[in-house]
Amino acid sequence: MSENSAAEYEQFGPIAVITMNNPPVNGLGLALRSAIVALVDRALADPQVSAIVLTGGEKIFSAGADIREFGEQKQASAPTLHDVIEVVEACSKPVVAAIAGACLGGGLELAMGCHFRVARSDASLGLPEVKLGLLPGAGGTQRAPRLLGVERALNLIVSGEPERAKNFAGTALLDEVVDGSVLDAAVAFARSVVDGKLAPKRARDIKIDDPHAEPLLQFARTTVAAASRQFPAPLQCVEAVGHAVSKRFDEGLRLEREIFMGLMATPESKALRHIFAAERAVSKLPDVPADTPLRDIRRVGVIGAGTMGGGITMTFADAGIPVVLLETKQEALDRGIENIRRNYAASMKKGKLTQAQYDQRLALIEPTLDYAALADVDLVIEAVFEEMSVKREVFGRLDAIAKPGAILASNTSMLDLNEIASYTKRPQDVIGLHFFSPANVMRLLEIVRGAKTAPDVLATCMNLARRIRKTAVVAGVCEGFIGNRMIERYGAASNLLMAQGASPQQVDGALQRFGLAMGPFRMNDLAGLDIASAARKRKAASDPSSQGRVVADVLCEMGRLGQKTGSGWYRYEAGKRDAIQDPVVDTIIEQFRRENGITVRKISDQEVIERCIYALVNEGARILEDGIAARASDIDVVYLSGYGFPRHRGGPMLYADTVGLPNVVRALRRFAAEPGAEAWWEPAPLLVKLAEAGRSFN
Ligand code: 3HC
Ligand code: NAI
Repeated sequence: MSENSAAEYEQFGPIAVITMNNPPVNGLGLALRSAIVALVDRALADPQVSAIVLTGGEKIFSAGADIREFGEQKQASAPTLHDVIEVVEACSKPVVAAIAGACLGGGLELAMGCHFRVARSDASLGLPEVKLGLLPGAGGTQRAPRLLGVERALNLIVSGEPERAKNFAGTALLDEVVDGSVLDAAVAFARSVVDGKLAPKRARDIKIDDPHAEPLLQFARTTVAAASRQFPAPLQCVEAVGHAVSKRFDEGLRLEREIFMGLMATPESKALRHIFAAERAVSKLPDVPADTPLRDIRRVGVIGAGTMGGGITMTFADAGIPVVLLETKQEALDRGIENIRRNYAASMKKGKLTQAQYDQRLALIEPTLDYAALADVDLVIEAVFEEMSVKREVFGRLDAIAKPGAILASNTSMLDLNEIASYTKRPQDVIGLHFFSPANVMRLLEIVRGAKTAPDVLATCMNLARRIRKTAVVAGVCEGFIGNRMIERYGAASNLLMAQGASPQQVDGALQRFGLAMGPFRMNDLAGLDIASAARKRKAASDPSSQGRVVADVLCEMGRLGQKTGSGWYRYEAGKRDAIQDPVVDTIIEQFRRENGITVRKISDQEVIERCIYALVNEGARILEDGIAARASDIDVVYLSGYGFPRHRGGPMLYADTVGLPNVVRALRRFAAEPGAEAWWEPAPLLVKLAEAGRSFN
């Protein structure tokens, strides 16, 4: 065997085997591309070699173009992926792709450039470029329709969803689907090609002759345009497949390339690529090495069977992890279990859960009133009332009963985790696990790292998050952590706009058109206005400088607590969630303006977006400055997975980068300079520093 850094070369009789070796996923970066070309040339030059097998081994073929090279010189340096595929396709000796594991994007395009393909039945074949806001740009849109037919290719390219190789058996995409070693099978296949003197089969030579192609494309254009308004890529995928039907192969390739380059420059693709990288970076902590030993989590305890405790219990039961659920009173415990039962029954009714799964999940939950039942759990999460005295009592009892090494977690949303940890003799085992409501549905989990939290506790919780299918982001200790600390400013900005002249509908509408799943007033109605109002009252009692009575407080006093009472900022009809404008609210707002001597002004949608989103960004910058979040992209992950921030914007921090930080700073300075403006409008020092240095968050 001989090696060429990114690929290896072996010979089995007349068959040369080129094995790509570029961990972790055989990304087709410059080094690997060069190696493939060099080794194909070597095989071509060797008279002993009659055919070539190209493989990535038994684990992974290739996940496609090396995403890390995007936007860098290396991506465009020869040999490009196009060059490599051309070399392989034009090779005079037959080339057989041996595919196992992931064969995605450029990886599949490379395989389609080979003359024959042998795949293990469980290999994963796909063209996921659309998920990065792109299209297959190395011939995929031209070769896939030739090998799979127009309809099948459209589905593969537009959905971006990979499929098992066995689903492609019998199509021209795969010549053989096997269950054992793909390498052995491919070498045997290559020998039969040599013995049978078969000529190379080239996808480019296949003629597309499908009378349904045009109507199919027209149908695809209409449905795709309606389903993906914020993203240009899906429709461009259809157009490129259209070129495969109507143009000569080389012209189709050229057009595909042109569209690919255009998409690469779109803000939508930049956002999606940012998200791809952000979601992978978020689990990496500079001071917690990837090989940190983990604590074993087999059995979990939850304290408090209220809104959050119930959802958290379901989250673990859903992941097949046994849970002990503790309450202080039998009625509360019964109520909690009944809620869980009702939730699961509703899922069963919708066909999302079978009776067997329903039984299985409930069997995993052990209700108790006795702390002794928590003696053998590996992790306890407390979700009791948000009062320090209650948390103190609970953690004191846990400290006495939990086994050594058990992780003690709090779901507190506002309280100081370090103080909570100080009520135990084992602050190193204490951590915050801040789930979002409804805990069994929301993907986001903020993992709150206390001053003394041990690295292995952190690593264990990150790993556990994957098991329970949560997107975990680590936050430091502060009021509101990352998400809620920022949302408070956003809420304040939207309230200010409302007081000054915008209606709740205008604010919500502008932000929803910007792409948010729900505007701030509708979100308020969904969450309930009472919790924040109570918190404001508590704060006002202890801090006379805090904000006075606001419109939301008036609504609360009228019993308009949001959706749960049928009215809040909007009106709701029984059993429906549609927010209906309510003239009563307009009257209350007008009265509030009069009482506070506010002169109404005209506010543009653009101003709504600037104020609300820049308020988020500015607090995000402070969060970074304070070391509460490790990276700007972690903040984006929080907002994308927990707050309905639009994916095509890539998160608030990437959005700020896109707008340009100097522009954000200028707007914030303008807001801060207004008479009576609150101090937090002042741009964060980090934001100013980055803007002045011509840098960005990411
Ligand atoms: N290039 C470079 N690195 C890649 C990569 C790629 N195409 N795909 C994945 N990686 C990296 C990840 O960043 C991660 O790195 P890290 O360990 O430093 O965080 C590592 O590989 C492992 O990735 P995952 O954490 O995602 O591991 P999984 O085992 O869960 O998934 C996978 C593996 C199925 C290959 C998944 O990573 C994936 O779907 N990758 C993206 C594939 C893709 O989108 N390909 C198209 C690329 S664009 C293209 O080919 C353009 C062409 O048409 C011209
Ligand atoms: P909740 O009021 O619905 O439930 C609290 C439950 O704890 C009640 O069932 C109560 O009987 C029980 N309880 C009280 N004292 C107890 C004790 N000493 N031992 C055992 N059980 C006890 O409250 P909710 O909303 O579930 O909140 C719980 C915690 O989760 C709070 O810390 C809150 O800040 C936090 N949180 C709440 C979110 C929400 O949206 N509701 C979101 C994220 C965190």
